[in-house]
Amino acid sequence: MKRVRLFLMILIAASIVMACNQKAKKDQKPIVSKTVENLKTALKDELTTVEKYRAYSERARADGYGQISALFNAIARSEGIHANNHIGVLTSLGITADSTKGSFVVKSTKENLEESINGEAKEVFVLYPAYIKSANDENAPDAIRTFTWAMGIEKKHGYFYQSALEALKTNDLTELPYEYLICPKCGNTFEEIELEPKCPFCKTDKGKFIVVK
Ligand SMILES: [Fe+2]
Ligand SMILES: [Fe+2]
Repeated sequence: MKRVRLFLMILIAASIVMACNQKAKKDQKPIVSKTVENLKTALKDELTTVEKYRAYSERARADGYGQISALFNAIARSEGIHANNHIGVLTSLGITADSTKGSFVVKSTKENLEESINGEAKEVFVLYPAYIKSANDENAPDAIRTFTWAMGIEKKHGYFYQSALEALKTNDLTELPYEYLICPKCGNTFEEIELEPKCPFCKTDKGKFIVVK
């Protein structure tokens, strides 16, 4: 009788251990350690860029370049949306995002445009492609999405800054707009002339776009 009871106790204990193991497996999140580091780095860069472009916008306005001021202001808004999207992914992974920012220097508007072109190019051709690769390796679809949206939009920012620099060099800003439209979901940035009915990145309706001057 004692043996039967002992056998039953062992059987129950083994069942409990197996159930716990199965639950732990079910609750286990994918390992995304590199992606988390990349999200934190990208967030810091985006937050720094928001402040930097706002400062560049003020400098351009003070220099009498209203259109270039509007451009920096619009793109600052876009970068803020990238930052929020990165925070959203970090939060979904159980990570508390912090708002640490880096430093920057405000120079002449021409130099600020050149610095911005280089910064956008580094994001498009170096940083975000590496982040997307890691997120693919670690099977982190939300991170892939936020990195991919940001990379595609930074490419447009580089184009806008390049156009502004060319205009500044020829001292003719008449072709540059005074306002831009920003997709509130992904930060996509539009001039009115190239406006499409929906955001090609996140499919948000253009009626929801934010006007930034
Ligand atoms: Fe950008
Ligand atoms: Fe969008």
